[in-house]
Amino acid sequence: MKAIKFKNKRLFYLDQTLLPLKEEWKECLTLASAVKAVKTLKVRGAPLIGVFSAYALYVTLKDKPEKDKTVFLKTFEKTAEILNSTRPTAVNLSWALSRIREKVYARADRPVAVIKQTILREARFIEKEDEQLCFRIAEKGLALIDGQDRILTHCNAGFLATAGNGTALAVIYAAAEKYKNIRVYADETRPLLQGARLTCWELMKNRVPVTLICDNMAAVLMAEGKVDKVIVGADRIAANGDAANKIGTYSLAVNAAYHKIPFYVAAPFSTFDLSLVSGKNIPIEERDPEEIKKIMGRSEISPRRVKVYNPAFDVTPYKLISAIITDKGVIKPPFKKNIKKILKK
Ligand code: MRU
Repeated sequence: MKAIKFKNKRLFYLDQTLLPLKEEWKECLTLASAVKAVKTLKVRGAPLIGVFSAYALYVTLKDKPEKDKTVFLKTFEKTAEILNSTRPTAVNLSWALSRIREKVYARADRPVAVIKQTILREARFIEKEDEQLCFRIAEKGLALIDGQDRILTHCNAGFLATAGNGTALAVIYAAAEKYKNIRVYADETRPLLQGARLTCWELMKNRVPVTLICDNMAAVLMAEGKVDKVIVGADRIAANGDAANKIGTYSLAVNAAYHKIPFYVAAPFSTFDLSLVSGKNIPIEERDPEEIKKIMGRSEISPRRVKVYNPAFDVTPYKLISAIITDKGVIKPPFKKNIKKILKK
């Protein structure tokens, strides 16, 4: 299962806004189409927007004239800047683009044709690496799971959000493969319903038993003793362990703490932003009010002129997180010290 494909120098993506009703692959041909795909969440999920934008950088630049290197490098900078500005919260996007930038400037004395190949090689490397990171997260996270666990997840942190089989869902896939009785609850994830549309779709395709709930049902489920663990993904994790993820994650963590249920965040090293001491400075994307006033851009559900506040992410304070599952190992509190120690490995 893949959410993007790069074949014969062409970049394709599965349009996630059409799921689960239609499985439609589209081609990304221009910078404008790449920007639109990411902004409108046709391509989404922290690691995936990094990988996709890395390839989009190559696709956009591959046919640019090669005679004048200064002109090419200027276009490279501008294009990377535009791609980087599509979504502010997930650090994986700027991480992937700066990695390419570093390689490009390490070869800035070479002909433009070589620089273009450098961009492509690094994009491929980032994709392959992300695939591997997902497997490693699954491997490390499996140690935290018991055979009978009923796991609650929020948003979508699976195949559709990474180049591999996910972060939070990678752990769930590994657990479901090892144990017969793993059960999953998927929060619908208002307003854009990534849980209902995407997580349920991919778990069902992979035959993992899943039950869909509305976001506001999680506390009741916990009180009824129906949830053993919560596992979510992340878009950016600060040096102290504060973790930004899809809006609604924070209230899930509060509910889990109240009911004494372990709350795990799963993410690769590329999601950490150690330049931020805490989650206070994580930029939170605010999205179009229409996403809340309508359901999936269709039926209107509120008065037309109502005021709306639509932050797409929230920050879960580290105190509410039991452990962070990374490709390098499971990080337990004290996070500030242990994040530094494990990420250095
Ligand atoms: O707005 P989205 O759908 O891109 O938000 C995605 C999430 O919040 C995911 O949980 C996060 O990116 C982790 S994906 C492995």
